[in-house]
Amino acid sequence: MCGIVGYTGNKACLPILLESLRALEYRGYDSAGISLVEKDGRAICTLKSVGGIDLLERKISDAKLDTGICGIGHTRWATHGAPSDSNAHPHTAESLTLVHNGIIENHAELETLLLREGYNFYSSTDTERAAKLIDLLYKRTKDPLFTLFEAQKMLVGSYAFGIIFKDRPTSVYAMRKNSPLVVATDESGSYLASDVTAILPYTDSFAVLDEGIVAELCEDGAKFYSSPFCLCEQSFQKVSWSAEQAQKGGFEHFMLKEINEEPSVISATLSHHLDSTLPGLKNIERLISGLSHIYIVACGTAMHAGLVGKYYIERIAKIPVSVEIASEFRYADSPLHKGSLAIFISQSGETADTLAALRRAKELGISTLAIVNVFASSVAREADEVLYTQAGPEISVASTKAYSAQCSLLALLAVKLGITNFSLSTQKAEEYCKRLSDELASSISSVLQKSEEIAKISSKLLTAEHLFYIGRGVDYYLALEASLKLKEISYIHSEAYPAGELKHGTISLISKGTQVIGILTDPSLAPKTLLSLHEVLSRGARLTLICTERILRENSIPDANIITVPDGDRILRPISTACALQLLAYHTAAKKGLDVDKPRNLAKSVTVE
Ligand code: G6P
Repeated sequence: MCGIVGYTGNKACLPILLESLRALEYRGYDSAGISLVEKDGRAICTLKSVGGIDLLERKISDAKLDTGICGIGHTRWATHGAPSDSNAHPHTAESLTLVHNGIIENHAELETLLLREGYNFYSSTDTERAAKLIDLLYKRTKDPLFTLFEAQKMLVGSYAFGIIFKDRPTSVYAMRKNSPLVVATDESGSYLASDVTAILPYTDSFAVLDEGIVAELCEDGAKFYSSPFCLCEQSFQKVSWSAEQAQKGGFEHFMLKEINEEPSVISATLSHHLDSTLPGLKNIERLISGLSHIYIVACGTAMHAGLVGKYYIERIAKIPVSVEIASEFRYADSPLHKGSLAIFISQSGETADTLAALRRAKELGISTLAIVNVFASSVAREADEVLYTQAGPEISVASTKAYSAQCSLLALLAVKLGITNFSLSTQKAEEYCKRLSDELASSISSVLQKSEEIAKISSKLLTAEHLFYIGRGVDYYLALEASLKLKEISYIHSEAYPAGELKHGTISLISKGTQVIGILTDPSLAPKTLLSLHEVLSRGARLTLICTERILRENSIPDANIITVPDGDRILRPISTACALQLLAYHTAAKKGLDVDKPRNLAKSVTVE
């Protein structure tokens, strides 16, 4: 999704803008642009290009710009208006140039107002309407702060802005609502970014700009205003991530690197929240005692982690859980269980639907808990309490290590809920925790060692147009995530079905050669899933099985490509099996020669509705 960068200071600005834009490429984009104040400080040069940053760089080199003193940059993921040079950001008006993330919902009303004032438009973006509104206000007030506080009253929707006024060419102004923006400073100047990964190479300290605040970034630091007359403070925090963590580190793709990081991020997540032999999680005790119902709300892969969480919590803590898609939950009119807890899971902590769902739960008086990977992100800041996964920066759009870290934290949470609600003895809780901390990472490492074997099996899927994943119980939850992973990056149409449901319709799609992937990790359900697999085999399907060693030993297994996963127990199996399924999707997409880390049309962090 769109990315914003900005810098003003005594270092060469252009290389900083380009390096920061490259750091945001992973979010997904279809055009890019910059506005640069050159060293003489007289003119602001704006260049933009549909396509990748390479094309933008070519334009910059043809324009023979100097390295500049102040500038803003943007990667755009089209929402209003197709990807094109004219729709790309920055957008300019007579007095300013700006970059924007988010959606200005009242753009049509603004356009009517601005047409009356004599403005014309060159693009079909909501952002250009916002730029011209700010221009109109600036011409009236001649003051950036009055202008921007006035604009806040008139703009409806979500926004993060980086703005340079032409007559103040060494300052970048910034403000935001429902869209992330961070500010950082060092001895050379000030930085602006929509995502902390963009500033990692320069500084390890940043402030998340509060909504409603206007920031003025200057060479000698950043000033924050809560009104045109009032300076205020913003709290700066240290980033625990390093720039190296956001590099490929010798792997062909970030996705493969991130899958390989799973043993270490799971160990880090577990040890962060374990207090000796039991889950610590003291801060959430007041939220979790006496619960009769839990909602887990999230989007995409995080929602699928929520399903694994449901499995853990219902089995271990015996508390019923509903897993809700955030974009549905935010508008649902259905009554919520009184005295329940809503858990919001998000890697980025900035997903617009998840954030809106969290705000709805708070309005309805439900206690809220966030499970988030990005420190100080919006979901983390707004929930009643937060538990952080320790997955480090996840760059590949397809989420893998964040999902595994979320599942492992949910396993620990299930144990904590079990103790707090007296459904689990301390001894049993200690056994679960010991198994998680002693065996989970090594169980995943043993799956990683099968990467080549899984790659060979993936060759058989390359020509498939349609594919079905089936499983029962938690294996169905894993099937949903496996199917999403494959679709996202290999563009093979795939569906996940509960094994027993196939015969109620979908089996009509199975014919000679249809690829079916069966997931069998629960020994008690495996014989039933095998029945369904025999049904598809007898209709000509080609079968791949992901199954545990024990199930392979104890059942009569039909003719199939087989990937075995470690037996483990119920708390370990889902996460190590997920790793095998991620590798299968990865190798399929990589063998097809696709851009695994940046699949078409997808964005890493979906900050608009
Ligand atoms: C996007 C990403 C998915 C991710 C989902 C939720 O769709 O492409 O990989 O699972 O957003 O993101 P979050 O940051 O809230 O976990």
